[in-house]
Amino acid sequence: MFKYMVWLERLDSTQTHLKKKNYPHGTVVVADFQSAGRGRLGRVWESQEGGLYFSFLMKDIHGKDISPLPLVLGYSLVKSLRYFGLNTSIKWPNDVYASGKKLCGILVERVKKGLVVGIGVNVNQREFPREVEDKAVSIRLLKGVEVSRKLVLLKLLENIYGDILKFQTGGFGAFKSSVEELLLFKGQEVVVLSEKPVAGLLLGIDDYGRLLLRTPNGVREVISGEVSLRLR
Ligand code: ATP
Ligand code: BTN
Repeated sequence: MFKYMVWLERLDSTQTHLKKKNYPHGTVVVADFQSAGRGRLGRVWESQEGGLYFSFLMKDIHGKDISPLPLVLGYSLVKSLRYFGLNTSIKWPNDVYASGKKLCGILVERVKKGLVVGIGVNVNQREFPREVEDKAVSIRLLKGVEVSRKLVLLKLLENIYGDILKFQTGGFGAFKSSVEELLLFKGQEVVVLSEKPVAGLLLGIDDYGRLLLRTPNGVREVISGEVSLRLR
């Protein structure tokens, strides 16, 4: 894994680029700037210079439910960011937060050849576009110093590699308690927005990475998908 790397100055999206090209498994594509960075559900991922934007192609994990994979990757990110002195949390199902703001986003998409995983980390940005200025934060803004994006990438790939192997062999069970400890909004009243919003107390997650909410009608499991989590 991660045997090949393509680092470009500018792309529409590393995710889209990897899907179009015929790169071998394990190829990592990085861009200094993305003109059409995207998040889940067709949302925009602001990708100005200073951030780290990368995607990689991996073989599908046959026989394993991949819906908890963003949580596994979130855990790899949190561990890697500790190296840079940051205390971060996992916002179910696919983001990493610090000081109440979003620092990283994770996107996992299925393609014919396997899975395309995309990760955006706000590293050295000093400001953000108006659309996200209230909710986004970078390492630079948190720590007051610039850090090398190359070093951040290397730390991340190291942890991601180990955690994907562990997920392949042990499944999500091997991560459940670590991820649960890092969950943002745990013990707080939240609402999961979707066609049918569900409100309740965030209890944790189950062995499949589903969110557990205590509602007036009992404990509800919420699967990731077309949903967004908010504080109530
Ligand atoms: P959120 O609660 O942050 O809106 P979500 O889970 O509802 O997240 P996602 O699809 O995970 O939505 O993330 C996409 C959202 O992230 C965008 O709609 C935008 O609000 C925000 N965003 C876009 N670019 C950045 C960035 N560089 N840093 C932080 N947040 C960003
Ligand atoms: C989200 O929070 O919804 C996921 C954001 C994922 C952003 C990364 S940046 C690298 C890769 N290329 C993209 O266009 N998106 C992902």
